[in-house]
Amino acid sequence: MDAKKLAGEKAVEFVKNDMIIGLGTGSTVYWTILKIGELAKQGLNIKGVPTSKQTEQLANELGIPLVTLSSIHQIDLTIDGADEANPEFELIKGGGGALLREKMVASISKRLVIVMDETKYVAKLGGFPLPVEITQFGWEMTSRQISALGCEPLLRQKDSIPYITDNGNYILDCHFDEIKDAHKLNQALNMIPGVVENGLFVNMADTMVIGKKDGNVDILYK
Ligand code: 5RP
Repeated sequence: MDAKKLAGEKAVEFVKNDMIIGLGTGSTVYWTILKIGELAKQGLNIKGVPTSKQTEQLANELGIPLVTLSSIHQIDLTIDGADEANPEFELIKGGGGALLREKMVASISKRLVIVMDETKYVAKLGGFPLPVEITQFGWEMTSRQISALGCEPLLRQKDSIPYITDNGNYILDCHFDEIKDAHKLNQALNMIPGVVENGLFVNMADTMVIGKKDGNVDILYK
């Protein structure tokens, strides 16, 4: 059983007519977006707000009508993936590099539904290195300041050169052994000049749709 597909497709149940929907990024929400594309073709009236260029392209291919953040004040529902989630509904996101746009979209969403497979539901955050988006300018300085918070930051690479986000920035993947206080760390990181945004999503998600390899799907509500 493809647990990501199960979770991604199940989450479509939250989509209703006339909604503005935040479209997340990644291989789990991919399945949600495919289903939303089918519903749009069948006449469902929705508008999507993509969280990355990759998702924008997929939505365009599927014929999902899109709007930009500039033209709206609120999003009814966002469906997105995560790299880790704990029982407090705190998340690590950004494995796919889209954390800034994902967090901006989530911040004006009435509801954030997270789709993932069961391996990502963990007691404590930190097993997955925390992605932090930083400016290219002075990145080594920013990296040193982040490491003082108790982690080992590594500049993300793609094809042996630094990975560049949709916003023209770098990403540091920060290895913390365990994140004890996600709220405090989120604030401390965003206080460092040079940090654009970090992948901790605190007090944002309210629903988790967890696909399991035995074929079941758990839905958790905050
Ligand atoms: C992208 C993300 C993704 O949602 C996260 O990495 C999960 O991806 P996947 O569903 O492919 O495992 O945060 O920035």
